[in-house]
Amino acid sequence: FIIPTYGFGVPHQEWINVIEKLREIDFSGKDVGLIGRGNQGFYAATFVNGMKPIYDVLLEKNANIVGETSIEGYDFVKSTAVVNGKFIGLVLDEMFMLKEIKDRLNNWLIENFEEDLNEK
Ligand SMILES: Cc1cc2nc3c(=O)[nH]c(=O)nc-3n(C[C@H](O)[C@H](O)[C@H](O)COP(=O)(O)O)c2cc1C
Repeated sequence: FIIPTYGFGVPHQEWINVIEKLREIDFSGKDVGLIGRGNQGFYAATFVNGMKPIYDVLLEKNANIVGETSIEGYDFVKSTAVVNGKFIGLVLDEMFMLKEIKDRLNNWLIENFEEDLNEK
């Protein structure tokens, strides 16, 4: 799931619209990876916060969340998307880390979803 953060720390409106629908799904036995889009320079205190409400619902619905990542190399003040010292998924900041995005995304996909990629 790809979740851009808007409005100072909330998921994009399209996600807010469907979050209740997500609660109706049983994710048991499913691997789910989260990708957060945000901006650490302009929104350093709510950096990719939009990921967390989706993460919470997925956990509630028994999803196996894969693909946590290190916060190393990022420069922000606070983020609810950091749990136990790590980001709860892949975090992409187009404004301040544009050059790294492609490699980070490719590596993350290979690390976490290689089997699924090969099936397609
Ligand atoms: C009004 C507005 C509020 C935003 N609030 C946040 C925020 O609280 N935290 C954050 O990390 N990024 C925030 N952003 C940055 C966006 O998440 C970032 O530009 C992202 O790349 C947008 O993804 P999209 O183009 O897929 O919608 C905000 C952007 C806008 C325009």
